[in-house]
Amino acid sequence: MDLPFHLAHYLAAALQAAAQRLGVADRGFQPEVRVADPAHGDYQANGALAFAKREKQNPRAFAQQLLDAVAPEVLAHFETSLAGPGFINFRLQPAALLVWLQQFASEEQLRAGAAHARANQTWVIDYSSPNTAKQMHVGHLRSAVIGEALCRLLTLTGARVIRDNHLGDWGTQFGKLIYGYKRWADQNALATDAIEELERIYKLGHAATPDGSPELDEARRELVKLQNGDPENVALWQKFSDVSLAAFEEIYQRLGIKFDHVLGESFYNDKVERVYRELSEAGIAEVSDGALVVFHRDHPRFKTQPFLVRKGDGASNYAATDLATALYRAEHFHADGIAILTDFRQADHFEQLFLTVDKWFAARGYRRPELHHVSFGAVTGEDGKALKTRDGGTIKLKALLNEAVERAFALVTAKSPDLPEAERRDIANVVGVGSVQYADLAQNRSSNYLFSWDKMLALDGNTAPYLLYAVTRVRSIFRKAGFDPAQPPVVNATPPETAQELALARKLVQFADAVQLATDQLRPHYLCLYLYELAGAYSAFYAADKVIVEDPAVRARRLLLCHRALITLETGLHHLGLRTLERM
Ligand code: ARG
Repeated sequence: MDLPFHLAHYLAAALQAAAQRLGVADRGFQPEVRVADPAHGDYQANGALAFAKREKQNPRAFAQQLLDAVAPEVLAHFETSLAGPGFINFRLQPAALLVWLQQFASEEQLRAGAAHARANQTWVIDYSSPNTAKQMHVGHLRSAVIGEALCRLLTLTGARVIRDNHLGDWGTQFGKLIYGYKRWADQNALATDAIEELERIYKLGHAATPDGSPELDEARRELVKLQNGDPENVALWQKFSDVSLAAFEEIYQRLGIKFDHVLGESFYNDKVERVYRELSEAGIAEVSDGALVVFHRDHPRFKTQPFLVRKGDGASNYAATDLATALYRAEHFHADGIAILTDFRQADHFEQLFLTVDKWFAARGYRRPELHHVSFGAVTGEDGKALKTRDGGTIKLKALLNEAVERAFALVTAKSPDLPEAERRDIANVVGVGSVQYADLAQNRSSNYLFSWDKMLALDGNTAPYLLYAVTRVRSIFRKAGFDPAQPPVVNATPPETAQELALARKLVQFADAVQLATDQLRPHYLCLYLYELAGAYSAFYAADKVIVEDPAVRARRLLLCHRALITLETGLHHLGLRTLERM
């Protein structure tokens, strides 16, 4: 008598089958099953109401007919009731909760359960994607952190995920950089901190080439030489990319990020001609003042504000390479979904890009993947203004992560002074970096991310330290009782009984719904909120119900709940990109 991982889907399928039996399935009945207010049940089906209204039937009567037609083996798992004008409530029986919890007994099994949703789908996630020859600063944090969480969450739901770092490694700035490099590069500085030196050279190059100056013409000639394949300039450009990537790599390692591909803008250089040709042939793009542009005449703003895809001087731009990128991902990776992470300021660019792709792919008969601009707000200080160093500079990502780890070290040392220093360092790494990641993930990404050391490192509230600590508290129960947390003695567990046992069990089952919501909306904060609530349900249970009691059946079921809380918290945190700890 097994139960599937995702009970909302199970109920939806059962209701659909019931509608079939009533002969109304082909009239557009949608079950609309969602997580219910706990006062009413675990799940609620709202579809009967809408359907009955449309069909001019009595909603309550129709809901009852539908419920009566649900297969008895499904109904056996639930207590059901009708509410209001035709909502159907389902509350899992304690025995069904036990069946589900017995079945999903490890991170592996949770993964296997979740993996059906996007089985056979390929997703390309374009994230981090910084510009080369510059250090990553705090503004680059969100794309990397949210992007990696989405990669892991989509993988959890069964997708094949391709992590693509779309570097900004092409453009007019390289003329100035080469110009500066040839005059002022300091080889010693390059050997010690290459990217710092490149930033210095670029600033000099930029200052030395004001608009209209002969120096700017010289910088432009360097750029043209680069574009025409001049060996010296190409070698320099390659060097800039290599040292940049090496510096980025340090950050990626600390955040647990490994890209499958680093296909920057330069990769699409030889692929833009096809874009121009196909857009022109299909009549989607037109020449205006020498430039190639796309007007979206069906759009209120873009009918007058065109999408510039080739500049007047014939050079390609960000739009051209992004169009070529969309095609490459569709043709080469056979992407079903593409998600690109940048801040909200690029919203217009991506809206125009996607509108253009729609028309272009339709004209050519190319299969169009789902396209998402996963945008996010700015990182601000507690005053709501852009986050800066005390002297007004940008905060380097490296320095920010270092500070997080230092602060976490102080915290761990205060809490557990007896742990060996090496272990406290390890813990500080996990807690420090995890706090920065989690504070970003826990907020709705559309809002600005208010950066506050005190809040993100707090031991209570919806924070990484709170959740990581909850994990170690469960682990310590197993350690103290001498049980292997990989194989807890729970076979004889009886169904949950006390109010707190039941509340925790119900919360555990809803992991499936939280993962679905977070992935469907590409918003990890839904999972964060769920984990926070789960940790709360666990705490309430632990405070109310003693775990290690004499009665073997009661002990087994409480150990089972502890164990499932542990694996669910860990599975959730791991798929947000955090590491978890044995102790803290
Ligand atoms: N390099 C860009 C920036 O720093 C982000 C690129 C995002 N990806 C893309 N395909 N446009 O703003």
